[in-house]
Amino acid sequence: MSEPGLKVTGLTKTYKGGVQALAGVDLSVQPGLYGLLGPNGAGKSTLMRTLATLQQPDGGRVTLDGVDVLADPDHLRQRLGYLPQQIGSYPGVSGRSLLDRLAWLKGRTDKQIRKQEVDMLLERVNLEADGHRAVATYSGGMLRRFGIAIALIGSPRLLIVDEPTAGLDPAERNRFHRVLAEIGSDAVVLLSTHIVEDVENLCTRLSILNDGRIVAEGTPEDLKAKLDGRIWEIEVPRHEPVPDDALHASATPHGTRVILAGAQQAGYTAREPRLEDVYHFALNPSLTAAA
Ligand SMILES: Nc1ncnc2c1ncn2[C@@H]1O[C@H](COP(=O)(O)OP(=O)(O)O)[C@@H](O)[C@H]1O
Ligand SMILES: [Mg+2]
Repeated sequence: MSEPGLKVTGLTKTYKGGVQALAGVDLSVQPGLYGLLGPNGAGKSTLMRTLATLQQPDGGRVTLDGVDVLADPDHLRQRLGYLPQQIGSYPGVSGRSLLDRLAWLKGRTDKQIRKQEVDMLLERVNLEADGHRAVATYSGGMLRRFGIAIALIGSPRLLIVDEPTAGLDPAERNRFHRVLAEIGSDAVVLLSTHIVEDVENLCTRLSILNDGRIVAEGTPEDLKAKLDGRIWEIEVPRHEPVPDDALHASATPHGTRVILAGAQQAGYTAREPRLEDVYHFALNPSLTAAA
C-alpha cells in the first residue's frame, strides 16, 4: 500500500548565478491544510513551483499517493490545482462564464454537467451571488476566492496556494481561510505564507522554511509546547533600546514589548509560547543550535 499524500525527499535547487533556493527539503503532507511558513527569499515559491511541476529541481524525489511525480509529471498535473498568483484580465467576462470556459478547456464538454460543476465551485468559494458579475469588478478578496474556484476545476487531489493572503483585509482573509479549511477536509492543501496568523489557527501541520531548509516541522500545538517555560516578556518604554538578545520585539501603545527565549532575566514575566515565538526561534540559528 503506497503512502497517501505528498512526500518530498531531499529536494535541491540552485539557480544560475549560484543562489541555493532549496538545500535538501523533506516534507510529508497528508490530506488537510498544511502551512509552509517562511520569510521572503526562503524558497517557498521555488518549492511550490517545483511541486506543481512548473520547474525542475536539481535533485530529490517527490511522490503523490506513491507515484513518482518527477518521472510521471502528468499523474500529478491531472490531480493538481494551482492558485494563479495573478488572474489575467478578462474584460466584461462574468465569473460564471469564465469558469464555464475553463471547465470546458479541462474536458467538461457536457453543458449540463459543466453547469453543475460551476454552480458547485461558486458555492464552494462563497461567490454564488456574484457569478453573474464581471470578474474585472471583483475585489481583491473575491479575486483570490475566484482563483481558488479556478484551481478547483476537476476536483484536484492536491491544491497548491502560494502566498494568497497578501493585501487582503481581515474579513476577506477570514473568509478565504474558511474556504481553504473546507477544501482541506478532503484534499491535500499546501499553503505558503510569510504571515504567521495565516497558519496559526488554520493548518493542522506546518513547516518553517529558511534559506532553503526546513528548520521546524509539526503541529502548531507541538511546536509551541517545545518552547514551554522558555519564553519571557517585558514591556519597555518607547525610548529604551531593545536588548540585543531579544527574540523579537513589537510596538505597543506605550512602548515596546520585548520577547526573550531561554532563561528568565530580571524584570521579565513568563509568557505562553505563541506561534510567532516559534517562528522567530526557528529562524535564529544560534538559538536552535543551543536547543
Ligand atoms: N528564477 C530565479 N533565478 C534566480 N534566482 C531566483 C529565481 N527565483 C528565485 N530566486 C532566488 O531564490 C531564493 C528563493 O526565492 P523564492 O523561492 O522566490 O522564495 P520565497 O517565495 O520564499 O520568497 C531567493 O534568493 C530568490 O532571489
Ligand atoms: Mg514567494
